[in-house]
Amino acid sequence: MPLMETQSVVATTRIAGVGDPRSPRSSSLTLRIKELQEQHLAFRNSLICAFNQLLDLKDISTGVHSTRLAEWAIRVARKLNLPEEHMYQVEVAALLHDIGKIGVPDSILKKQGPLTSEERALINRHPEYSWSILRLFPGLEDASLYALHHHENVDGTGYPAGLPGQDIPIVSRIVSVIDAYDAMVTNRCYRKGLPHAEAIRRLLESAGTQFDAEVVHTFIPIAEQEAAEVFAAAGTSTSAAL
Ligand SMILES: [Fe+2]
Repeated sequence: MPLMETQSVVATTRIAGVGDPRSPRSSSLTLRIKELQEQHLAFRNSLICAFNQLLDLKDISTGVHSTRLAEWAIRVARKLNLPEEHMYQVEVAALLHDIGKIGVPDSILKKQGPLTSEERALINRHPEYSWSILRLFPGLEDASLYALHHHENVDGTGYPAGLPGQDIPIVSRIVSVIDAYDAMVTNRCYRKGLPHAEAIRRLLESAGTQFDAEVVHTFIPIAEQEAAEVFAAAGTSTSAAL
């Protein structure tokens, strides 16, 4: 998983008695701080990978590999000129936005028949659960908010907050589109995935109501570019249902 962050989230602390950065004591402390920062990042990235693995084990993984989903989110974010320093949060949000589904019983999550209103209400809590998990990671506060709002609709009919349009964080709007495309083209135990062209048609149909139209139009060329490769990896074609 290509977690991208190289800079540290560990605050650089002022160390009393270290005034001259050229002194031996200063440089050894600087090295030690750098070492601790790297250890902290490596540990956090391992935790993120472990949580991603947990999603796989819970069978909530995305149909195309979750790494690809993260790559798409980053490509869309870059095309929309999001600042480069936000890409780590974009990547984590794309990977772990559904981590809260761990809190939803399998009997509901994988139910093949229609859901009762109580079951639907419980499933709809998963963005809040995702937020409550991710916000505990130091440095992932932004990603936790992106996960919280990944089921908002631009017409204000989504959940959990019913935020409209630009009030929804742009990263949440990106995750919403790529996640929907992925869900549509993916085989589930109870239904076959849609052909690529039909998934694109549905994205366009809901652009401006469910989805951010600019994000949809930014994502489509990426999906077109990648679709053949993605579907080929799944042993099928973009034009036939999986
Ligand atoms: Fe979700």
